[in-house]
Amino acid sequence: MNDDLSGRTTRDGIRIYEPGHYAGMARAGALAAQILDEVADLVVPGQTTGAIDDFIRNRVEEAGAKSATIGYKGYQHASCISVNHVVCHGIPGEKKLKDGDILNIDVTVIVDGWFGDTSRMYVAGKLSRKTERLIQVTHDALMKGIEAVKPGNTFGDIGHAIQSYVEAQRMSVVRDFCGHGLGLVFHAPPNVLHYGRPGTGPVLEEGMFFTIEPMVNLGRPETKVLADDWTAVTRDKSLSAQFEHSVGVTSDGVEIFTLSPAGKFHPTYPV
Ligand code: MF3
Ligand code: CO
Ligand code: CO
Repeated sequence: MNDDLSGRTTRDGIRIYEPGHYAGMARAGALAAQILDEVADLVVPGQTTGAIDDFIRNRVEEAGAKSATIGYKGYQHASCISVNHVVCHGIPGEKKLKDGDILNIDVTVIVDGWFGDTSRMYVAGKLSRKTERLIQVTHDALMKGIEAVKPGNTFGDIGHAIQSYVEAQRMSVVRDFCGHGLGLVFHAPPNVLHYGRPGTGPVLEEGMFFTIEPMVNLGRPETKVLADDWTAVTRDKSLSAQFEHSVGVTSDGVEIFTLSPAGKFHPTYPV
């Protein structure tokens, strides 16, 4: 367990990590990403989301790591699996996937104290044209956000890059959930908004570690949380997609900690 509490925190409460800390994040990120590579084969019609979660739980354990979500605010699972109009925090269970379902699988692991948090989209069976476009736009929105990550830019630049791209495609960005600082903790300042105005918000500095995890809806952006207190859905029942990477600001840009070892971040399915 790395419980090194040295280092600086900005006026906005954002921790600045040290050059020696990137390697720990990269190991945690690689494990989370590798597990997401491996689950791709399990995403087929007839499979339950609970069985996918069991696989993830076992893989985390086999790797000698810990799941960050089991026990987090009472959450009991090693992943969130959000199907179709579920925006995020879908609870794995006995429901079987159907042909054409789209789903986000979100995994966070802890390796030697470092948190690796990533999610991506999968399809059970056949993908429709409209849905393919939603997934592509959401992936590209994340990557445009990441392209805005470099010292001197602001968090508003990241949000603006995502929002302006998504809205130009006539889709909407969810406002009710955001990315977050992470590192030796799961959720820390700042809130990383996926919308915003250029030049606003905290200035990015080398040593900041955070997630970018835009949720994009085919319909309106509003969400509601179901009675289970976790599952967030689109109010208008429109389809929703999400991709997430954990990143660090470097001296001249960005390091993505959760790159797929197999190059399967997107698409996870044969095209
Ligand atoms: N991994 C999610 C995120 O991106 C958080 C899930 S918390 C849980 O921040 F408890 F719902 F698992
Ligand atoms: Co996250
Ligand atoms: Co996540």
